[in-house]
Amino acid sequence: MNKIEQTLSIIKPDAVERNLTDEIKNFFINNKLKIKDSKKIHVTKDEAAEFYRVHQTKPFYNDLCSYLSSGPIVVMILEGDNAILLNRKLMGATDPKNAEENTIRKKYGISIDKNSVHGSDSIDNAKKEIKFFFKN
Ligand code: CMP
Repeated sequence: MNKIEQTLSIIKPDAVERNLTDEIKNFFINNKLKIKDSKKIHVTKDEAAEFYRVHQTKPFYNDLCSYLSSGPIVVMILEGDNAILLNRKLMGATDPKNAEENTIRKKYGISIDKNSVHGSDSIDNAKKEIKFFFKN
């Protein structure tokens, strides 16, 4: 059954810094995800803390927020059939060490922190995360 969804994708500072933005965008496009909107921004640590609030009790929360605000990122709305799950498959496991072949994190990820991309993990979070970065 076709289920057209939208999901939020972030190209993180480690990948933007290495000029991987176009390569990652093309990987999405070549794998049946449309980029409906995209912008390059630099968030503050407070904004990162708000975005990642679901992780506030985790030991890695502070480092995670520092990292996301450490340099420019590219935020995108991806759209397609089963976009949330498809994007997660294309990203691969959170830790690049465990990521499957031909996934973004396997190809480009450096570490569990510098894992190149973020993607929403559920319909509810996709809605919230899209609203967070694309308010209108
Ligand atoms: P992301 O998909 O952006 O969601 C939260 C991020 O926290 C995750 O990718 C990782 O980059 C980072 N992170 C750091 N340490 C851990 C950990 N132990 N488990 C899960 N995520 C972690």
